[in-house]
Amino acid sequence: MKSRVVVISGALGGIGLASVEVFSKQGDIVVGIDIRAEDDPFVMQTKEKFKTFHYYPADCTQENQVKTTIEHIAATFGKIDVLFNIIGGSGRRFGDGPIHTVTLEAYQKTIELNLTSQFLLSKYVVIEMLKQNSGSIINTGSVLGMVGGNELFSTVTYAATKAAIIGMSRSMAMAYAKNNIRVNVISPGLIESNMTQRAQSSEDIFAYMDEKQPIYHGRHKLGNPMSIALAARFLADSEADFVTGVNLPVDGGWTAQ
Ligand SMILES: NC(=O)c1ccc[n+]([C@@H]2O[C@H](COP(=O)([O-])OP(=O)(O)OC[C@H]3O[C@@H](n4cnc5c(N)ncnc54)[C@H](O)[C@@H]3O)[C@@H](O)[C@H]2O)c1
Repeated sequence: MKSRVVVISGALGGIGLASVEVFSKQGDIVVGIDIRAEDDPFVMQTKEKFKTFHYYPADCTQENQVKTTIEHIAATFGKIDVLFNIIGGSGRRFGDGPIHTVTLEAYQKTIELNLTSQFLLSKYVVIEMLKQNSGSIINTGSVLGMVGGNELFSTVTYAATKAAIIGMSRSMAMAYAKNNIRVNVISPGLIESNMTQRAQSSEDIFAYMDEKQPIYHGRHKLGNPMSIALAARFLADSEADFVTGVNLPVDGGWTAQ
């Protein structure tokens, strides 16, 4: 069987690298997109580790860069079977937080990083998938797009983007089901990665996780990126060919409460 072409955005992050590993191991051609330069030592190291890993640098908030990159990938590999759209991150560095403290600029930057990026990648990948009449897209939401958190997790714009990703993906699922393109969402709980360094040393957050994520996979009671990658592997697979429009929480029980 010809190898699948799996595109992963945010490929150099915690969930991204776990996913590069999972999809590489099962023989897929894995094409990562992230913001680091092509000659960045970390990119070279990742290419060295995963021989079927290809890398394209792009700022995923910029339409021209996303369009060119996706068109280039489709032309080079002849198709795109799967998009695992992981790109995103906390908006705290821009000033996201409780709504009475958030500036319009912080709001707009957080929207760009989390929603515009996944919108642009979805759009240009769907254009390619429509040509081949097949494909599977997995966008990345969050438990915070489904339920509110306490004051430790009060980032209003981030929550808005993640809820929007769930809505956008369901709308895409219905629009393209007849074209054999499936669209699903994974909504992670708190996972150990660069994005959550703050949480990895906070006793207050550990105590909150005792309550919210009663199943522990990682150190410090945070989830393991591998759990997210394995859920994506299932949703990407033809075994999930009747699964579309689903928002799958992978959250140690957070949203079951
Ligand atoms: N880690 C968690 O607890 C958690 C929980 C819920 C949802 N998520 C979601 O998972 C996704 C990734 O999380 P992670 O934990 O792997 O984070 P991470 O910070 O380890 O990875 C994010 C990656 O995105 C890349 N990136 C950032 N801005 C970019 C841009 N403009 N263009 C291209 N690439 C860019 C970064 O370089 C990084 O490699 C995000 O969508 C996040 O919202 C994470």
